[in-house]
Amino acid sequence: MKKLRIGILISGGGSNMHAIVKACHADDFPVEVAVVISNRPDAKGVQIAKDEGIASVVVDHKLYADRPAFEAVLNAELAKHDVEMVCNAGFMRILTEEFINNWLGKQINIHPALLPSYKGLHCHERALADGVKITGCTVHYVCLEVDAGAIIAQAAVPVLDDDDAVSLAARVLKAEHQLYPHALRMVADGRAVKVDDIVRIKSNVEASDTLHVPKL
Ligand code: GRF
Repeated sequence: MKKLRIGILISGGGSNMHAIVKACHADDFPVEVAVVISNRPDAKGVQIAKDEGIASVVVDHKLYADRPAFEAVLNAELAKHDVEMVCNAGFMRILTEEFINNWLGKQINIHPALLPSYKGLHCHERALADGVKITGCTVHYVCLEVDAGAIIAQAAVPVLDDDDAVSLAARVLKAEHQLYPHALRMVADGRAVKVDDIVRIKSNVEASDTLHVPKL
C-alpha cells in the first residue's frame, strides 16, 4: 500500500504526534511519519520521536533572523524527507502567508475546541466561562485565517460541573489522541475529500449513530 508521507510539526509535549506514530505502527494504516520537526530544542516530543525511531529535527526559531528564514529551513527539511502533508500537532509558531499558501490543501492542524467556536488561545477557559456542556476537538485544514480552515473531523467531549481548565484540557487531549489518527486515515484513504472550503465525507454513518448525550 502506498502510504501518505507526513511531517509532524510540534512545539511541546508531542502527545498528539505520539498518538499518530502509534497508529502508523499498524500495517493497514495508510500514513507514515517521515519526520518530526520541533521549533523548540527542549520539546518533550523530540525524545519521544527518537525513542520511536522516527527521524526528528530541531529547527530552533530563535536562531533565525525572521520567519521566512526559519521557514526556509522547515521547508528544506520537509522536502528532504519527501513530505506530502504537514500535520501541526501543538505547533505554536505563527506561519507566514507564503508558507501557508505553499502547503494549502496539504497542511492540517488539531484544535482543542469544536470549531468554529473558540478559535485561538485559552479555549477551555472560555468554554467554562460560557457554561457550555459539550466541547471537543477539531482536525481541520490550515488556511490563512487562524483555526478557520475546512473541518475534517470533530469529537465531542462533555464539560463536567467541577471541571477547571486543566481537567477539561486533559479530557479533550484524550479525545484528540483518537481523533487525529482517525482524521488522517480518512484523508489518506480518500474518504475525506476537500471540495473548495468544505470537506466532504464518504460515509454510511446514520445520523442516529452520532447523537451525543451526556449520561445522567
Ligand atoms: C493540544 O491540546 C493541541 O490541540 C493544542 O496544544 C496541545 C498540544 O499537545 N494546540 P501535545 O503537544 O500534542 O501533547
